[in-house]
Amino acid sequence: MIHISPSVLAADFSDLKSEISNVENAVDWLHLDVMDGVFVPNISIGPAVVSCIRKRTSLFFDVHLMIVHPEKYADAFIDAGADLIDFHVEASDDPRGLLAHIRERGRKCALAVSPDTPVECVFPYLDVLDMVLVMTVYPGFGGQKFMPRMLPKIACLRREIVRRGLSVDIEVDGGISKSNASDVAQYGANVLVAGSSVFRAASPALSAGEIRILAESSYTNAEGIQPS
Ligand code: DX5
Ligand code: ZN
Repeated sequence: MIHISPSVLAADFSDLKSEISNVENAVDWLHLDVMDGVFVPNISIGPAVVSCIRKRTSLFFDVHLMIVHPEKYADAFIDAGADLIDFHVEASDDPRGLLAHIRERGRKCALAVSPDTPVECVFPYLDVLDMVLVMTVYPGFGGQKFMPRMLPKIACLRREIVRRGLSVDIEVDGGISKSNASDVAQYGANVLVAGSSVFRAASPALSAGEIRILAESSYTNAEGIQPS
């Protein structure tokens, strides 16, 4: 199943309530980027903001932690209303321990991989993952250009998931728009983060809907079969 997850990083933070309500009928997920100024050279939001917007929407909260020591903060984001916690494989000494903890807390869990990290790094954890987040830009800023050289990584990951008979979502994040939604879905991604291309569009809902249609018509698993 395809999910479009608009990244609020591209929204107007002074009016998040309206920004979110503008997309609510077009999407079922919301992507929340957490940056600490250490793992990435930028600072964004913390649990207090997640908790405030949790009161305004029932969208599924996909919380992307771009922080060092994710094990120290995962609980705060779960308490704030995260439905899924994505943390970076590069940032954790014990991914398996944190993944187990997130699951014990009844939330979904994902490992994220930055562009220079081989996707094979997440293979040992696939059996305990709900999703893998493949970065298609260097993490830290919205509005960057999609990196097409990440496409083979998506295909390699989808092949491994299918080979092992697992059901793991693949999310792509960074520079996703109408111009590459078909490509990423064809290579096996089924969750598409879209920041600028949704919140900076004249009609965010329309833009999200168009991205969804393109992805739905192109999504294939590694064997070229369109799953129902
Ligand atoms: C980048 C963030 C992304 C970003 C996506 O570090 O993880 O989620 O906000 O924004 P766009 O779609 O504008 O690249
Ligand atoms: Zn993100």
